[in-house]
Amino acid sequence: MAESITITDNRTGESFEIPIENGVVSSHEWQKHLPGIWFYDPGLMSTAMAESSITYLDGDQGILRYRGYPIEQLAEESTYLEVSYLLLHGELPNKEQYDKWVNDITHHTFIHENVRKRFLEGFHYDAHPMGILVSAVAALSTFYSDAKNIFDPASRDKQIVRLIAKMPTLAAAAYRFSVGMPFVYPDNSLSFPANFLSMMWKIAEPRYEADPRLVRAMDVLFILHADHEQNCSTTAMRVVGSAHADPYSAAAAATAALYGPRHGGANEAVIKMLTEIGSLDNVSDFVKSVKEGHGRLQGFGHRVYKNYDPRAKIVKRTAYEVFEVTGKNPLLDIALKLEEVALSDDYFISRRLYPNVDFYSGIIYQAMGFPVDMFPVLFAIPRISGWLAHWNELLEEDAKIVRPRQCYVGSDVRDYVPMEKREFES
Ligand code: CMC
Repeated sequence: MAESITITDNRTGESFEIPIENGVVSSHEWQKHLPGIWFYDPGLMSTAMAESSITYLDGDQGILRYRGYPIEQLAEESTYLEVSYLLLHGELPNKEQYDKWVNDITHHTFIHENVRKRFLEGFHYDAHPMGILVSAVAALSTFYSDAKNIFDPASRDKQIVRLIAKMPTLAAAAYRFSVGMPFVYPDNSLSFPANFLSMMWKIAEPRYEADPRLVRAMDVLFILHADHEQNCSTTAMRVVGSAHADPYSAAAAATAALYGPRHGGANEAVIKMLTEIGSLDNVSDFVKSVKEGHGRLQGFGHRVYKNYDPRAKIVKRTAYEVFEVTGKNPLLDIALKLEEVALSDDYFISRRLYPNVDFYSGIIYQAMGFPVDMFPVLFAIPRISGWLAHWNELLEEDAKIVRPRQCYVGSDVRDYVPMEKREFES
C-alpha cells in the first residue's frame, strides 16, 4: 500500500491525503489543498530542496555513498580524479574514459597570466587565501565568456574541466602570494595531488616530488571532501545556479559559504581549541566547561550525522599514515583523549554528538605544513566536483529558480513621517 498522511484543516473541517514518496511529501500536493500556507523552516532543517542521485547520506547509521559506492571503498581504492568523474558522470570511468579525463584536467591546470599578474597580485600582502580564492573563482567568469552558455553541453563540460583543474593552481597561488613566495607553475607530469603539493612547496629544486604517502593522504582527503549532498555551500551553488548564473559565479558563492567557520572553517577552530587546551591534564576541565555552556567542542556534532561521521574514521586512520612521514602532531594525543572523554559522557551521548570530518583533518593539515588559513581552501579544492555535479543535475532537470517564501512579522502598513516630526525614544 502506498504511504501517505492525512491532514485535517481545522478551519474548514476538510481532510485530505498527501502521498509520501521516498520519505518526502511534496509541497505541490500540500499547496493544492492549502494554498498560501507556507512551511516555516529556518535553516531548511526539514526541507528537501532537491531530488538528487549524487550522494546518499544516512546520518543515523553513519553511511555516506557517492553514486552508491561506499565512501570507505572509494577512500581505499579510488583516486580523487576518478571520484570527480563518478560524481559528475554517475558511473565509474573505464580505462579510456579515465585517461581522457585525467589528460583533460591535467591540461587545464594553468591559469591565465593576467589572473596571476594583474588580479592575484593586486591583493594586500596579508590577504586571507580563502578570500583570494572566492574572488579568483568569480573573476574566472570574466576570462571565459563562453561560460554563460550554460545550456550548451560542450561549453558546460569545458567549464567543469577548467574549474576542477584550476582550483589547486589558484589555491596554491593564493598561499604563495600570502607568504611572499613566487608562483609555481603546474607540472603536468605529476598526478593531481602531487602537482598541488609541488605548487605549494617547491622552492629552487628543478622538480618537486612529495613523499608518495603524503600524496596519497592528500588524495584521500580530497576524496572525502568531494561531496556531501545538500550542505550549506552546495545549497549556495544550487541557489545561484538556479538563477542561471555562469558556473564560476555560482562556485564563487559556494566558496564564500564554505569560508564560514560553521562550515569549512571548523577544522581551524579544532586546532585553536586543542592548542588552547594545551595538555592532557586540562581535557576534563575543558569538557566540563563545554557542558556548562562555555563554547562548543569543535569538530563534534553535525546537523545530519547522529553517529560517528564515516569520514572522521578514515581521516583518523590517515593521520597515522601522515605522521609516519611528518612525525606525530603533538595535538593528536589531546584530540584522542578529548574524543575518549566526550564519547563516554552522557552530555555528548544523549545529544548524539560524535567527531565529524573536521576533528582530525586539521591535525593532518598542520602536520603536513599547511597554515590554518589554508584549511578551508583545502576543503574547496575537491568540493568543486560536488558543487559542479549538483549544478549539472540542477540544469539537467531544468529546476525552478530558488525563491522561498517568508513569514512576515514586521510592521503593519503605516504612513511616512517627515524627519522633523519623528519622535524617538531617548
Ligand atoms: N559541542 C557541545 N555541544 C554541542 C555541540 C558541540 N560541538 N554541537 C551541538 N551541541 C549541542 C547544542 O548545544 C544543543 O544542545 P541543547 O539541546 O542542550 O541546546 C544540541 O547539541 C543540538 O545542537 P544544535 O546547535 O541544535 O545542532 P545543529 O544541527 O544546529 O548544529 C553543528 C550542527 C555542526 C553546527 C554543531 O554541532 C556545531 O556547532 N559543531 C561544532 C562545529 C563543527 O564541528 N562544525 C563542522 C561541521 S562538519 C563539516 C561541514 O559540514 O562543514
